Amino acid sequence: MAAARRDGRWIGFVPTMGALHVAHISLIEAAKRDDTFVVVSIFVNPTQFGPNEDFKNYPRDETADLVTCRRANVDLVFIPPVEEMYPPESATAVHVSRLTETLCGVGRPGHFDGVTTVVTKLLNIVQPDSAYFGQKDAQQLAVIRRMVRDLNMPIEILDCPTVREADGLAVSSRNVCLNKSQREQATCLYRALNEAKTLIKSGQTDGVAVVDAMRQIIEDADQTSIEYISVVDPASMQPVKRIERRVLIALAARIGKTRLIDNLQVDPRSRLG
Ligand code: PAF
Repeated sequence: MAAARRDGRWIGFVPTMGALHVAHISLIEAAKRDDTFVVVSIFVNPTQFGPNEDFKNYPRDETADLVTCRRANVDLVFIPPVEEMYPPESATAVHVSRLTETLCGVGRPGHFDGVTTVVTKLLNIVQPDSAYFGQKDAQQLAVIRRMVRDLNMPIEILDCPTVREADGLAVSSRNVCLNKSQREQATCLYRALNEAKTLIKSGQTDGVAVVDAMRQIIEDADQTSIEYISVVDPASMQPVKRIERRVLIALAARIGKTRLIDNLQVDPRSRLG
C-alpha cells in the first residue's frame, strides 16, 4: 500500500465484517470503477454487538472471503485480530449523539458507539482517501458521515445502493440464518416498504397511516416480530409526521430469530424515487 500511495494512487476502503456477498462486491466494484487501490477489511467487531446479540453466531468464512476478494481484484485485505484492535488497556470510544438515539439505536444501545469506534480505528489504520458503505445501513451511513465531518477526517464517504434478491429481499450476511419458510416470509419487508412508497406517491402524507399499513403487511406474515417501523428525515433520523418532502422509511424486524433491517427513500414530489 505504501507503494500505491507513493505512486499517487487513490486509496479506496471497503470495511466489512466478512461473510462477503454480492452487496459487498458492489462496494468493491464501485471502488474499482473509481480507479482506486482497493483495501477491504474483514473484522467481526465485538463492540457493536450487545450481550444478547449474535456475535458468536455471526456468519464467518475467511477462506471464501479471500477467494471473493481475489476474484474481485481487491488489492489488499486487512484481517486484524481482536486483541490488536482492542488491547486490554484501550480506554477510548467514539460517540456520535442525536443521530444514534433513534431507530436501531433504541433497541441496540451501544451499537453505534461500537461502529463509530471501530470505523475510526480502521480509517486511522488504513488512511484511505474514500470509504464505501451500503445504503441498506442508512442510519450507520448517516452516523459515519456525521462523525467524519465532526472529526475533520479527510475522507470521502461514498454510498452504494442496496442490493436486492430477485424478490426484493435486501442482501445481508444474516440472510443465511433464515430457513426456507422464513426466507419466504422475509419478502414481507420489501413488500411493506413498497406499499409505503405507493401510499406516499398517491398522496398519503400521514406518517402514522403509512407505518400502520406497513405493520399490517409484516404482521400478516408468519414468524415475524417488528422492532420498529419509522418514517424519518433522512438527514436527522428524526420522525416525520407529515410527509411533504423526501423521507426515509426504515424498519427492523425479526424473522424467526434473525434480525433484519431495510429501508427506502421516497420523495412525494419526485416522479423517480
Ligand atoms: O456495516 C458493517 O459491516 C459494519 O458495521 C462495519 C461498518 C464494517 C463496522 O464494523
